[in-house]
Formats: sequence, structure tokens, C-alpha cells
Amino acid sequence: MFHPASPEALAISNVFILTLIIAGVIFLLVTGLVLYIAFRYRHKDGQAEPRANFGLTKLEIGWTVGPTVLLAVLFIFTIDSMGQADPAVGQGRQPDIIVTGHQWWWEIQYPTLGITTANEIHLPTGRAMLTRVESDDVIHDLWIPQIARKIDMLPGQPNNVWLQASAPGIYLGACAEYCGTQHAKMLVRAIAQPQAEFDAWAKAQSRPAPHLTTGATEVRGQQLFQQKTCISCHAINGAAANAQVGPDLTHIASRQTLAAGVLLNTPPNLAAWIRNPQQIKPGSHMPNLHLTDDEVNALVAYMETLK
Ligand code: CUA
Repeated sequence: MFHPASPEALAISNVFILTLIIAGVIFLLVTGLVLYIAFRYRHKDGQAEPRANFGLTKLEIGWTVGPTVLLAVLFIFTIDSMGQADPAVGQGRQPDIIVTGHQWWWEIQYPTLGITTANEIHLPTGRAMLTRVESDDVIHDLWIPQIARKIDMLPGQPNNVWLQASAPGIYLGACAEYCGTQHAKMLVRAIAQPQAEFDAWAKAQSRPAPHLTTGATEVRGQQLFQQKTCISCHAINGAAANAQVGPDLTHIASRQTLAAGVLLNTPPNLAAWIRNPQQIKPGSHMPNLHLTDDEVNALVAYMETLK
């Protein structure tokens, strides 16, 4: 909130800070007056009850007009910042990105670039990317506070939001609508890069995975992916795997995190995740397949080739 990284987030931050200052001044004023009056007019022995005042017209006008003016000022600033934080989407404008909420991860597609990934939204800096948000199951909410407003992800009712980052960096976000047991472990990150870096990333992501013929462990992992239940849920472009239940794994090794931001994407963490996802994220739709250590290691070796 205090470190906005896009014009949209800056508009929200400005109105937040203005509200905070006004509310802070009122808080200090009211608390100060209460304390002052409680002390100044405290009960003293032998003192008669003071005469009560009923209806001081000037005061009543004052404390009606004052708040009305303050609320009107906040109203005008809020309307103005809503326009800046959430600019209208032009007729027929197609989304640059589609983010779909799942229990408990994010599917991220770039329809014009032919890319499907998960949990990490790459953005070219300085460009507002129109992002359509949807849900595959329950209501989720995409919230990356430094770059955009919150936006609900509703099943059957797409919403739009502009995602934009002015400077390169990693901007952390989370699901902001309770969506089940692993709601707290539904993390997302936006990775903002200069246009050229973004283009290089996009080019790499749109390539299919190579078919492995060398490296015994990796080849075994490639076979296990097909033989075990992995292929029923996960897609790998280039490996005849098209299931859309879990995240697309075509370039899993290029991602920073696993399991929607829960683990850093390292080989030991990937092994722990494949060995027993239920221990790391109980209730997740990825089951414990009771794989042997050799099978886990082979699968990890294969996944690490999916750059
Ligand atoms: Cu998804 Cu909370």
C-alpha cells in the first residue's frame, strides 16, 4: 500500500493515505478533547452538579457540516482514483493475459503468445496488460497490492483488471477471498521485466519440451511421467500430455516457486513435493502416489530439464 509500483496502485495508495491522514487528525482531535475534558471537568468534592445544556444550534450545525464536507472531499478523491485505478476496457479489446483460479493455484495464459504457465505472472514493464480473471471452481480473488486493485475471480463470470508494473521487480500477491483449506497457501507473484527480457522469456515459454533420449535418469523420469498418474492431470507441451487439471509443466524448471508460492523451486523441494504433496499442502488435489525414492529422483531429474 505504501510502495505502489504502477499508476493504478499509486491512485489507490494516494486515496488511502489521504483517508488515513484525515482519519488520524480526527482521531487525535477527538481523543485529545475527551482526555482534556475528562481531566478539566473531573468531579471535585463539594461541587454542585453543573447545569446541562440542551441544543446548541451553532455546535450542531458545526458537527453536521464538518463531517459532510470531509466525506464529500473523500468521495470526490475516491471517484477520481477509481477511474485511474481501473480504467475502462475499450470495446472489443482482447485480454493479454488470462488468469484462472483453481483450488489452490493460478493458471496463467497469454492467449496471443500461446503460453500457459502457473503461479507467476510475467509482465513487460511500463505496459498495462489487460488481464481477464476467471475461476475453475470457487470464488478466488487476485490481489497483488503493489501493482493493482483486488479483483474477484468468479466461476462463469469473467472480470477484467489491468496489471502493470512501472519498474522491474518481483511483486508478491495472494488470493484474497477465502476459498478452502489451502487459501493461505495460494500465493502469486508478478515478475516485471524490461520488454526485451519479457520477449525472451515468452519465446522460451512458447517452445515445446524436447523429447529426451540421453541421460538414463532423466529418460526414466520421462517414462514415469507417462506411466504414473502424472499425465492424467498435467500438461507437457511436446510430450503428448494435455490434461488441464493441475499446472502446466512444460517449463516448470523456469519457475521460481512450487505449489503456488509455497516452496522455492529447488530439486530437494520438488522431490519433497512429489513424494508427499499432502504433507506440504494438506487437501491439495495432488495425491501422494507412494512413489519410491528412485522414482521421485527420476521424475525430479526429468522436471529439471523442463526449462
Ligand atoms: Cu483462492 Cu483463496
